[in-house]
Order: sequence, then structure tokens, then C-alpha cells
Amino acid sequence: METVVSGIRPTGNLHLGNYFGAVKSFLQMQHEYNCYFFIADWHSLTTHPHPDNIRKSVKTILAEYLACGIDPEKATIYIQSDVREVAELYLYLNMNAYLGELERVTSFKDKVRSQPNNVNAGLLTYPSLMAADIIIHKAVKVPVGKDQEQNMEMARKFARRFNNIYGVDYFPEPASFHLSEKAVKVPGLDGSGKMGKSEGNAIYLIDDEKTIKSKVMKAVTDSGPTVPNSEKPEPIANLFMMMDIVSTPDTYQFFNEKYNACEIRYGDMKKQLAEDINLFCKPIRERINDMLTDDAYLDRIAREGAEKAAANASKTLKEVREIIGFRG
Ligand code: ADP
Ligand code: TRP
Repeated sequence: METVVSGIRPTGNLHLGNYFGAVKSFLQMQHEYNCYFFIADWHSLTTHPHPDNIRKSVKTILAEYLACGIDPEKATIYIQSDVREVAELYLYLNMNAYLGELERVTSFKDKVRSQPNNVNAGLLTYPSLMAADIIIHKAVKVPVGKDQEQNMEMARKFARRFNNIYGVDYFPEPASFHLSEKAVKVPGLDGSGKMGKSEGNAIYLIDDEKTIKSKVMKAVTDSGPTVPNSEKPEPIANLFMMMDIVSTPDTYQFFNEKYNACEIRYGDMKKQLAEDINLFCKPIRERINDMLTDDAYLDRIAREGAEKAAANASKTLKEVREIIGFRG
């Protein structure tokens, strides 16, 4: 069976972008692949070096993963920092990762701009840690949103380079996986760009009905089209894209026809969208709140996941050490 790996950093709650960009693929892939889904707590130190309460943040994501429907009987769910072999592979990959290529990564350049007082080496080598996460399990598919494409290219490059340098055909090159076009980039409702924690425009799975409504009602719109069948400007296209993701095709079509006939009432559309988002989130939200009360269960899942992931990782590391020339 082919192997799949993906992870999310515990820097906040899961939002609709995370769900439709990544987690929804996890739910499907767990039935068809040998899956490893982890919580990237080491990665979170690159932006949050002195976390308030990292164990609580990790526990939250774990509860959210499970509440979404990731089945620990099918997929291995673990915490990155529980598998220390990842750090050793990261060290080896870093020896063959070059300053120039790491400095050219867009997300690194963005972070240099957004956190100029904390341009740390972990931030620079973020892609080699991510590559280690993936290739340690010899994964061939990685479900992530479009924003991870450059990191994925780096992961493939590091896998290829390892094979070339040591003259082996050991690590497969991992491919990004997208469930559908819609999953590639879930939009924000603030006019432009994607939904994201750092963008400050996220609708979280844990948000209650009132919060969802107030966020959706604030979505950026315009005064409406005056020419039938006109192209939608970005903020409106984003609103429709969100509706396409969470509402029924009938609902989408209804508002689309209204738009094309220049009869759209954005207030009604937003009310419907908020309702549909709430309908989607409600059962997940209830399960998250339940999960969060069961520490013993969450601890057990993390412990069992760590054992499984570490067993597989240590097998890889033994072989990697032999390939490089260390004792296995
Ligand atoms: P954020 O951008 O909010 O910090 P992360 O970077 O932690 O979210 O993303 C975790 C996963 O969710 C990644 O696979 C990422 O590609 C995916 N993801 C995040 N936001 C979106 C989005 N708006 N559309 C599609 N996928 C997304
Ligand atoms: N970089 C990913 C993000 O920001 C998180 C991540 C870390 C990841 N390691 C990974 C995703 C390995 C997939 C595979 O969302």
C-alpha cells in the first residue's frame, strides 16, 4: 500500500481552509493508503519560539483531527516531537541544503518581512524539516493546499539529491495531492486571497453560530452588477467560491442566477452562506468539545500513534545511517 503523510502546525484552531484544503483529503485517503497524519509542533517553533502552552495547542489540534473524522484505527496520528528520528533526518538533509535555495523560498521571504526580529535558522530550514517529515515514511502523496507547493518542490529536490549523492534509489519523490480544484485554495471573505490564520480572516471549525454569522455578514461585497452575466470581481467570486464549497448545488445556482440577472441581494446570500457553514460546522464543533474533555483518550491516541510512527521512522533511519556510512 502506498504511503501518505501530512501535517498541520498547532498555531491555532483548524479553519475551513485547513479542512477543505487538507483534512478532507485525509478523511478520504485514510481508507485507501497507509496514512501518517501528524501535528507539526517543531515547525510551530519557527514562528512561535516561546509557546504559551504548546501541549494545550497540540491537544486542541488532536481533538480537532479526531472530531473531523480521522480514524486512529485506520491512520497513524502522531505528534512530530514524539518522533525524534525526524530530527536526525533533518540534520542529514540540512548538510545537503544550500543557503541560496533556502533563501529563495517565498514563505521564508514573507517571514523575513513579517518577523524581522526573529529570522531564525529554523525558519530558513523549514523546508528541510518538512522534507524529513515526509520522506521519513517514504510517502508518495502529500495532501496539502496550494500554498505548500514550493515546500513540496523542495521536498522532492531533497529526496532526489539524497539519492544522487549517496548513489541509491532510496527515497521516492513525494507528490502533492488535491482532492479537487476547490480544495486548492479556499478563499477568505475579506476581499482577496486565501483563508488563513495569519491572514486574520479564518472561520474556525470551533466557531459558534453567532461568530460564524458575524464573520460572514462582514464579507466584502460591492453594489452589485449592472450588466447581466458580468464577470465577478474577486471579493464576489470568493463569496461564490465559498458557497460552492459548503452549500448545495441548488443554492449556489439560485444565487448565481440572481447575480447574472443583476438581482442579487448580498445580505440574503450571506445569511444563507452563514447558515450552511453553521450546518457543516455544528456536528464537528460538538465533537471537538466532547473530545477536549477526554484527556485520557487523547493521551492514548498520541501515545499509540507515536509508537507506530517511531517504529517506521527508526527503520528508515537505520537504513539512512547505513547508506551514509554510519553504524545502522
Ligand atoms: P494557515 O495558513 O492558516 O496558517 P496552515 O499553514 O497551518 O494554515 O495550513 C495547514 C494546511 O491547510 C496546509 O496543508 C495548507 O495548505 C492548508 N490550507 C490552509 N489554508 C488553506 C486555504 N485557504 N485553502 C486551501 N488549503 C489551505
Ligand atoms: N508546512 C505545512 C503547513 O504550513 C505543515 C507541514 C509540516 C507539513 N510538515 C509537513 C505538511 C509535512 C505536509 C507534510 O501547513
